[in-house]
Amino acid sequence: APELNPSLLPLNWLLGAWESDEPGEGSFPSIEPFRYTETLHFSHVGGPMINFMFNAFHAESKKPMHQECGFIRMQPGTNKVAFIIAQNSGLMEIEEGELTGKQLNLKTHALARISFAKKPQVKQISREFQLRSDGRLEQTVSMATDNQPLKQHLHVIYRRPS
Ligand code: HEM
Repeated sequence: APELNPSLLPLNWLLGAWESDEPGEGSFPSIEPFRYTETLHFSHVGGPMINFMFNAFHAESKKPMHQECGFIRMQPGTNKVAFIIAQNSGLMEIEEGELTGKQLNLKTHALARISFAKKPQVKQISREFQLRSDGRLEQTVSMATDNQPLKQHLHVIYRRPS
């Protein structure tokens, strides 16, 4: 396997596969709370970016639900991180933020969507990844839409697949 590009060494703890430990919790003021499972894959081919793929499934029916994929880049010599994201809902997003220890805080820097995307429109996303002291990975996602202010949508804790 190629060596990880040095610009990404601060993020090497993300690499590989993760799966939701307990089902993730979905919520938002305008929807029914829901549960989901999710797998995450972070890989690289030696270039200055990490490739990622997130696949979420209905907790009971196992039917595929939300999907995201893209690239992660870091500005060399800084703690600045960018996620370049495509979502199956038709949303394209750039999130930027900072790495502090093993915690990533990101928020929307740019958004675009397909012309026939479902309403309401997402206006802002903020997301946090944190490698916990118990070795599990935690993700929290909040969003604002054109009819709701910024509120939590997702919370999930992942473990390494057994
Ligand atoms: C609803 C965005 C990730 C499951 C929604 C809504 C939006 C949205 C805008 C509609 C809210 C409303 O009607 O007021 C996003 C964004 C995500 C994301 C931007 C990623 C950053 C996920 C994930 C799941 C999920 C990972 C896991 C299965 C749902 C469900 C609903 C919903 C079940 C309610 C039913 C529906 O409207 O389809 N999401 N979502 N979402 N989301 Fe997400």
